[in-house]
Amino acid sequence: MSKLIIVSNRLPVNIIKKGNQFELQPSVGGVATGLGSFYKSYNSVWIGWPGITENAIKGKKRYIQKRLESENCYPVCLTKKDIDNFYYGFCNKTIWPLFHYFNQNTQYNNDYWESYKKVNELFCDAVLKVAKPKDTIWIHDYQLLLLPQMVREKLPKANIGFFLHIPFPSSEIFRLLPWREDILKGMLGADLIGLHIYDYIRHFLHSVLRVLGYEHTFGEITYNGHTTRVDTFPMGIDYDSYANAVDYPDVQKEIKKIQKNVGSRKIILSMDRLDYTKGIPPRLKAFDMFLDKHPEYKEKVTLILVAVPSRTRVEHYGELKKGVEELVSSINGKHGTIGWTPVWYLYRSISFHTLIALYNVADVALITPQRDGMNLIAKEYIATKRNAKGVLILSEMAGAAVELGESLIVNPNNTSEMADAINEALVMPCKEQKARNRIMQDRLKRYNVERWANDFLEKLDIARIPSTEVTITPLTTDLRTQLIDDFKSSDDRLILLDFDGTLVPFADKPADAKPNKNILRMLKRLSSESKNEVIIASGRDRDTLDEWFGDLDLGFIAEHGAWIKERGGSWKTIEILKNNWKSKIRPLFEKYMDMTPGSFIEEKDFSLAWHFRKSHREQGFIRSLELKEALHDLTSNLGLEIIEGSKVIEVRNAGINKGKSASHWISKNAWDYIIAIGDDKTDEDLFEILPESAYSIKVGLKPSRAKFTIKSPTDTASLLRKLK
Ligand code: UDP
Ligand code: G6P
Repeated sequence: MSKLIIVSNRLPVNIIKKGNQFELQPSVGGVATGLGSFYKSYNSVWIGWPGITENAIKGKKRYIQKRLESENCYPVCLTKKDIDNFYYGFCNKTIWPLFHYFNQNTQYNNDYWESYKKVNELFCDAVLKVAKPKDTIWIHDYQLLLLPQMVREKLPKANIGFFLHIPFPSSEIFRLLPWREDILKGMLGADLIGLHIYDYIRHFLHSVLRVLGYEHTFGEITYNGHTTRVDTFPMGIDYDSYANAVDYPDVQKEIKKIQKNVGSRKIILSMDRLDYTKGIPPRLKAFDMFLDKHPEYKEKVTLILVAVPSRTRVEHYGELKKGVEELVSSINGKHGTIGWTPVWYLYRSISFHTLIALYNVADVALITPQRDGMNLIAKEYIATKRNAKGVLILSEMAGAAVELGESLIVNPNNTSEMADAINEALVMPCKEQKARNRIMQDRLKRYNVERWANDFLEKLDIARIPSTEVTITPLTTDLRTQLIDDFKSSDDRLILLDFDGTLVPFADKPADAKPNKNILRMLKRLSSESKNEVIIASGRDRDTLDEWFGDLDLGFIAEHGAWIKERGGSWKTIEILKNNWKSKIRPLFEKYMDMTPGSFIEEKDFSLAWHFRKSHREQGFIRSLELKEALHDLTSNLGLEIIEGSKVIEVRNAGINKGKSASHWISKNAWDYIIAIGDDKTDEDLFEILPESAYSIKVGLKPSRAKFTIKSPTDTASLLRKLK
């Protein structure tokens, strides 16, 4: 039976050394708490770092491994140097700040990067020790971005999923990373990539396009012959355990204790890891402003600020701690009275019971991160509100804001908006609080962490089954032999061949991609065989095809289907086509040609094409996206369509394509053998209309409607040479 292997930087438990003793403590943070609640219900093991240096467990390694194994956990041991350069370095001084848009906190250091690669390799070794070839491997978060590809290389048949728990930033931010290509290629080793919300998907897909030059089709990217699906899975919480925990006697005891200490004051709760992404100082400033604006609340509210220590050896965390402490004492000094401390500050991790009690008693939760992949605390707060009383104030920069729209959504940089939201929360009628919370509770109950994990794993299960329209089946030696044998035993054969990218490789300029002597000789041989009818189905214009192939006994489709020519016949259009639209579109194309060095326009009878093959890679892509958008507006009512070839955007009459024109030949005879070979999107129309018995072949390892795939025009030539 295949098992589930969870891999994350941190195990759900940390090893803590106390004197000579070792204790297991639950890990803090969304990944550990979220996944920790369901992984035991699967046939699963968890691989990760136990939070301690290798040196500290010297001599006790076996003992610790045994203890962890009893929890189904397998440790990856890291040295102090690994922890400094990988964990504190690349993970938390490079990726974490950059992906949260804290560019000013980001360090680019080659030693950190080398360590990141090395530690990802260590994780890969650990996976290989426990994984069987067909196991499901679910890798988590930003510490292991290279791991999917590393595992894919060693276990090509494994189901590999990857989930990023933090935001994927805009490509404008991502491209600042010197190692951006390696990071994306590492992630694309996965069969399925999960992100919390659609914005992160948009950013990721755009980064893949800008940095690697790969486009996606409905969220699927094919790179190196492997397809990766990208989808949203907003992480949920173990709803019932938060909701039910309120009844635990220990929690009830804690609730009473807090209520007794706070008295009749309203409680505002702020709870996070002490991290600069969480927006704690601006939140404190908003509380300060609220007290300024609403002195009537003095002595009537208490802000309980829980800051859980995190990554303390990274300088920005130390500075933040100092800043928070200064703000807390300044607010308490400014507003406090004898017997009233406005902010209660706790710098420590708290027990589950205290956590639930605090959520439950808090009248308001003030959760205002500057950036947050999801933010589970916001969801947990709502889940513990059994009587549905309480108001959540939530930053629009948290992924959770997408699902928790009934909370008071604020901009975490707008101090006065946050101050006003505190007031609005405190005066909100009970009925309204309940109505808002019940809607959110229903949602969170339905899409809980179990559902999140099951959704992801189900999609991962089918991610490797190609969708019906797009498949990649390489033309293996056996299939090739079959194809050739079928050819030999047939009498009426139709051979449809694209030109650029199929018979010859793409050239920087269309004029440079002439057919060489070998190609011409092969076409001549094929077409002079009486059982064959050979058609060149190209995007090229009529004159070019006449010039190159005029001496041969071939049929032609020119301009992607606008023109056809029978053997020995003359050119005709299969429909009445217009070209008076060109004067409207040409100025736009010219503008893009001027703005994009290296690009050029090709004008055909019934189409206009803008080629950007020779322009700067990123610039070409960006401009092509812009041009497509501009064309959509211009062409919507002109009966035109925009087609994308390989580094070319073309506008032509709608409804004309290679498939439609090829039908002319397909229907005119009872062929007993049809073969079509093509390489780009325009050939997909041709593959689509072929009868089931036909051989269709895509050149280039990309998903296609074609039955089979070959690598390059060299393979086309070698295959055609055998058709005799
Ligand atoms: N949490 C914890 N110990 C604490 C306080 C909080 O384990 O002392 C948990 C909290 O219940 C939540 C997680 O830490 O599940 C924080 O997750 P979130 O997504 O809000 O933020 P992250 O820390 O992952 O950035
Ligand atoms: C966030 C990250 C997790 C991380 C957690 C705690 O939730 O997404 O990957 O485990 O913070 O941070 P730490 O550095 O202590 O593991």
